[in-house]
Amino acid sequence: MAITRKELPNFTSRMAFILVTAGAAVGLGNVWGFPYVAGKNGGGGFMLIYLLALAFVATPVLMAELLLGRMGRASPPTALKNLQIEAGRKEPWPVIMWVGLMGTILILSFYMVIAGQAIFYGFEAMTESFHGWTPEDIIAFDAAYKSDILLMAFWSAVFVGLTALIVSSNITTGIELAGKWLTPILFVLLVIIVIYAGIYGDMPAALNFLFGFDHLVLTPGVLLEAVGQAFFTISVGVGAIMMYGAYMGNNVNLPKAVMWIVLMDLGVAILAGLAIFPLVFGEGVDASAGPGLIFITLPIIFAKITGGGVVAVLFFMLLAFAAITSSISLLSPTVARLEEAGWKRPHAAWAMSFAAFVLSFLTIFSFNIWSDYYPLAVLGFDGLTAFALVREGVSNVILPVVGVTCALIVGWGIKKERVKAALPMQETVLFKVWYFCLRYIVPIAISALFLNAIFGG
Ligand code: PFF
Repeated sequence: MAITRKELPNFTSRMAFILVTAGAAVGLGNVWGFPYVAGKNGGGGFMLIYLLALAFVATPVLMAELLLGRMGRASPPTALKNLQIEAGRKEPWPVIMWVGLMGTILILSFYMVIAGQAIFYGFEAMTESFHGWTPEDIIAFDAAYKSDILLMAFWSAVFVGLTALIVSSNITTGIELAGKWLTPILFVLLVIIVIYAGIYGDMPAALNFLFGFDHLVLTPGVLLEAVGQAFFTISVGVGAIMMYGAYMGNNVNLPKAVMWIVLMDLGVAILAGLAIFPLVFGEGVDASAGPGLIFITLPIIFAKITGGGVVAVLFFMLLAFAAITSSISLLSPTVARLEEAGWKRPHAAWAMSFAAFVLSFLTIFSFNIWSDYYPLAVLGFDGLTAFALVREGVSNVILPVVGVTCALIVGWGIKKERVKAALPMQETVLFKVWYFCLRYIVPIAISALFLNAIFGG
């Protein structure tokens, strides 16, 4: 039996909703992903494209997804089923959210591996503090971790276990409590590190790198990466946000909440850049060191600078906190769906975590026994490990496809009057811009990027 709309619990306040949802948005993508992607694509120029993608493509979808959740008041597939019936439409709307749910588990499967390493490094920094380690020591340390399948599996399991524990509890004592505390703590930690980086690192070089305009690279690939990063960073396109929309009270002013969530997410991404790059430039190391930036470049710096040991602990704690508030949002939709099927919440949480853990071996093996194995090479995806395929498949396919479908459903599938009443909102300029984005900008932008990816070579 499906849970009826009224039975679903609500977050207790507007503030709680905003903090929890911002916590879902702020994650590894901000701290581990954004500085790397921005660095690789040339700083300020990329930033501009990214801001446009965020404002006119990802943010309108965020608002659409939250609205669909609040209107449907159930797990994402059931919410869309409710809305499809209400709108009297024939197309099978729920199907798209099953794709989304697959996306949540796939993201969780690689998220736990990166977050697991962050927790491991956090403990290492507490006990060993990296102090006096040479760069060779740190490179060897990272390599040793990545070749130890059991150790990687262990820390991934610790992380996903914590996630399951939080999600097992009911909404207000689990997800809400974690988000309400961890999101503000994360901000404080980040600000401390930025101040430290300003004192001990080269802040002007970092500012110039992030905001300077000397090296704009504008290719379709960069555009796709900007849209992909924008979707990933604010968590749209898998149903996690739709689920939180279903827990959102009717008293929440949706456009305002969306604005806060996006600003907090962007703020953390920029602050993360301002925490990392001054140190990177201060030490004269390569800024586009790739994902190794976090687990190799930064520890090398922490090992050298004054107070580096403490900052290392704070930094890896920050990473773990950012990750856990996102991973609980990733686990929530499938758990809610299983609850609708009659499962007990804890059973559902542990079962889905276990499924994600099994899938995490695709990522774990990509760092060792499968590091030279490209599963889809025959289809033209040469050079992509299983981990890269999962990550890029989710970011470049699932998120945009599910996201654009949500935009189409709100823009075209549901009557405009009903949308306005559900928000609730008058036909203001803001409404018109949002609606126009959903109807035209989002579908056109995403179709163009897809066509280019397929035919553009
Ligand atoms: N927004 C998260 C990040 O930036 O790391 C990733 C994410 C979490 C994506 C939850 C999607 C999601 F549903």
